[in-house]
Amino acid sequence: MKLTLHVWRQKNAGARGGLVRYEVPNANEHMSFLEMLDVLNEALIEKGEDPIAFDHDCREGICGMCGFMINGKAHGGFKGTTVCQLHMRHFKDGDVIYLEPWRAKAFPVVKDLVVDRGSFDRIIAAGGFITAPTGGAQDANTIAVPKQAADLAMDAAACIGCGACVAACPNAAAALFVGAKISHLGHLPQGQAERDRRALAMVRQMNVEGFANCTNIGECEAVCPKQIPLEVIARTNGDYLKAAVGAGPEGAAGGTG
Ligand code: SF4
Ligand code: FES
Repeated sequence: MKLTLHVWRQKNAGARGGLVRYEVPNANEHMSFLEMLDVLNEALIEKGEDPIAFDHDCREGICGMCGFMINGKAHGGFKGTTVCQLHMRHFKDGDVIYLEPWRAKAFPVVKDLVVDRGSFDRIIAAGGFITAPTGGAQDANTIAVPKQAADLAMDAAACIGCGACVAACPNAAAALFVGAKISHLGHLPQGQAERDRRALAMVRQMNVEGFANCTNIGECEAVCPKQIPLEVIARTNGDYLKAAVGAGPEGAAGGTG
């Protein structure tokens, strides 16, 4: 299969970027999208050119490292699919494909298709954790968790932190990501002690990082490879408002939008 790619090339964060056209004459339907890029990169290296930088690690949809826009859609816009799980059988001979990095102020471009998602790490560091001692593995069943709460927590915990929700959102909001983390921990008994503090701290950090507010457009849910539902944003709003009322004006800096 012969493809034409237009790939965003940008040497570093401060450089001016632009789309560069490449021909891929030897792609086939059994390759993953990243393998197709590997083949292109090998050809570029053989010619003495700089290979295209893109993030990846597990290549099986669980680590959250991969992700860029394919023809204007985060991860390519295929339901429940990360870029690394996307196969070339979804494309056809002669296709023209545009690849661009996530576009958001809080995700500055590092190089080509790689962006810095350290803002997500700082949001987690602000409150996405528990401090309750949970013991060793053998103690896991000593605190009973109701089935429904366990299911909701597990569904939210599926978030891999890829950032597609931010890239797809016209506001570049991080509400789905933050909502997933708040729901994951907030549904569990071990997450209750810091629940108010967590909501205040994570929302505050989200605003500090430059993510804009959620206006319920829903693009995030549509592109999320882990199909995190919009309900997690309602959970953030509920937890945040309850905590902010309790904390008074000092505790409620910013808002969830
Ligand atoms: S909510 Fe979905 S799209 Fe957003 S970071 Fe998590 S897995 Fe990625
Ligand atoms: S490389 Fe790990 S999720 Fe894609």
